[in-house]
Amino acid sequence: MSDKTLKLSARQTADFELLGNGGFAPLTGFMGSEDWRSSVENMTLADGREVWPIPVTLATDLEASEGDLIHLLADNDKALGRIRVSEIFERDVKHEAEHVYRTTDEAHPGVAATVAEGPRCIAGTIEADAMPDHEEAFMRRYFTPEQSRQEFADRGWKRIVAFQTRNPIHRAHEYLTKAALEVCDGLFLHPLIGETKSGDIPADVRMKCYEVLMENYYPNDRVVLGVNPAAMRYAGPREAIFHAVVRRNYGATHFIVGRDHAGVGSYYGTYDAQAIFDEVDIDALGIRPLMFEHTFWCYKCEGLGSHKTCPHTPEDRLFLSGTKVREMLEAGEAPPHEFSRQEVAEILIDAYRDDAQG
Ligand code: ADX
Repeated sequence: MSDKTLKLSARQTADFELLGNGGFAPLTGFMGSEDWRSSVENMTLADGREVWPIPVTLATDLEASEGDLIHLLADNDKALGRIRVSEIFERDVKHEAEHVYRTTDEAHPGVAATVAEGPRCIAGTIEADAMPDHEEAFMRRYFTPEQSRQEFADRGWKRIVAFQTRNPIHRAHEYLTKAALEVCDGLFLHPLIGETKSGDIPADVRMKCYEVLMENYYPNDRVVLGVNPAAMRYAGPREAIFHAVVRRNYGATHFIVGRDHAGVGSYYGTYDAQAIFDEVDIDALGIRPLMFEHTFWCYKCEGLGSHKTCPHTPEDRLFLSGTKVREMLEAGEAPPHEFSRQEVAEILIDAYRDDAQG
């Protein structure tokens, strides 16, 4: 029995938080080899039933033995709690990448992070004394899964649709969420605020965008804004299921999956993240996907729609790539109101200007 200390990376700190606050239920600690293998190969825990599409492991080179109690520090050195070591094992990183990310290309940010962490993992149940720190702008929208469930119950909601995003909410996102809300009692906007790749808009800037939309465009009696402290994996289809599991734990009954959910570059097909739900037992998953086609603004319809609802041609539709939008913002130019609400565009332009001024 020893007393050691391990400082977690930002990503591991986020995993600790979700293990500690119930966001990763039924997991109560970092996975051992059996759960790891089953998660990678079968998208379930070792029990064969509980849906779990991305392993949650604690990779480290720290010398330790089974039975050790290791003190865990957040990436900012805050003492969080402990892990009781139940197993030390080597994972096959390539095998994990092939199954979870569908590629071993290290240019993929999720693969790169897994490779950088290395194969050696420490498994065990965690004991949480404290949660990682978050800035005030996030804390005022912070719910544990228990708290969000209570909030939905207090509001009398039975059908609750959750929305994951790592972006500002643009018009297409707003359209999906509102269309989903039309057939549910309440909407849970649950943006991810953990680690994202460079090039993605930082969470503090996005938070301002979400707040301005809550103020001006969402009915607050039907919408709850919360934050998801998880880190992005960019695992596309696998992550769509992972995101759904977490939102089930926060009390949602339905989950929005649009085009290229949690995708990056061109690693995944546009609707791969929808098709993968056919491979899981939806009853065991405990939350239902609500699938949406690629949504766009159509000048002839004078509104948003998709191939399912708009009969016009590509020339009638507004399509802006992420790169194009970034270029516009960098040049201090607002994306058109058909793409982004004016209030959101202004926040983004300000953020780009501040960033450029360093
Ligand atoms: S993600 O990495 O969090 O999935 P993003 O924030 O872009 O990225 O998307 C959030 C959700 O909205 C995902 O379910 C995604 O599929 C969906 N989505 C984003 N843009 C569109 C669009 N134009 N049409 C349909 N679905 C979309």
